[in-house]
Amino acid sequence: MSDDLVIEIENLGIGYSRKQILGGLNLQVQKGECISIAGSNGTGKTTLFKTILGLLPPFQGKISVLGHELSSEKERRWVRRQIGYVPQQTLPGKLPISVHDAVLMGRWGKGFSYGKRPGPKDIQVTIDILKWMGLISKEWNDCRYLSGGEQQKVAIARALVREATILLLDEPTTFLDQKSREELLHLMKRLKLEQGLTLVVITHESWQLPKLTDRAFQMTGGKLRQLTGQDMVSPSSLNWSRQNGII
Ligand SMILES: Nc1ncnc2c1ncn2[C@@H]1O[C@H](COP(=O)(O)OP(=O)(O)O)[C@@H](O)[C@H]1O
Ligand SMILES: [Mg+2]
Repeated sequence: MSDDLVIEIENLGIGYSRKQILGGLNLQVQKGECISIAGSNGTGKTTLFKTILGLLPPFQGKISVLGHELSSEKERRWVRRQIGYVPQQTLPGKLPISVHDAVLMGRWGKGFSYGKRPGPKDIQVTIDILKWMGLISKEWNDCRYLSGGEQQKVAIARALVREATILLLDEPTTFLDQKSREELLHLMKRLKLEQGLTLVVITHESWQLPKLTDRAFQMTGGKLRQLTGQDMVSPSSLNWSRQNGII
């Protein structure tokens, strides 16, 4: 395996119980790449993320992350520690929890766990990420009262404190207004360029990310089809991206 190969999927078949959702799926993601996956609801995009995270065992085929094949629980646990996962947006919980604590919780299993309290390193990483993301002024705000964009940033910060090298983002911009959407696109660009992260983004808006996305895919009929430049970039989206400094 090349050292630059971060995710390697070969002839993968996945689904639930006996119902196959995806079959014969192949994908290779290189270090530092940003790829996007579009597709109608229910086509299996989130299911693919669950499999990459080792939460759903494949029916057939092989999947390796950073050269580790997800073939045993030990390997799956190792792989999960290398991945930051930002799930599809859910409503904030009812508990009054501060931004600081919500982000610190991302260190669970990495820096602390049952019987082991968060230490100075956990706190420092949390504060560094909050600063890097421009969230430090909200550190002690109650998460329940943040805007949609801020909540999405907290979800990303929680994934980043794991010091992962791979970030899986499931429809990160769907429920955001235009301004928050632009901020998030800038943030993703910084994650790629400043932090050197490998990003896999499920989005219906790959056309909004022409310079961020190295390759765009469409999930259809249980397979991934790579989109060409023409499918991916419309002239109006290029103008929009230029005006907003994304490219
Ligand atoms: N836990 C589950 N058990 C059984 N079927 C599921 C489960 N989660 C999702 N599915 C089904 O798998 C298919 C793909 O779902 P999903 O991966 O969430 O699609 P997408 O993210 O592309 O909208 C859908 O038909 C969905 O109903
Ligand atoms: Mg989904």
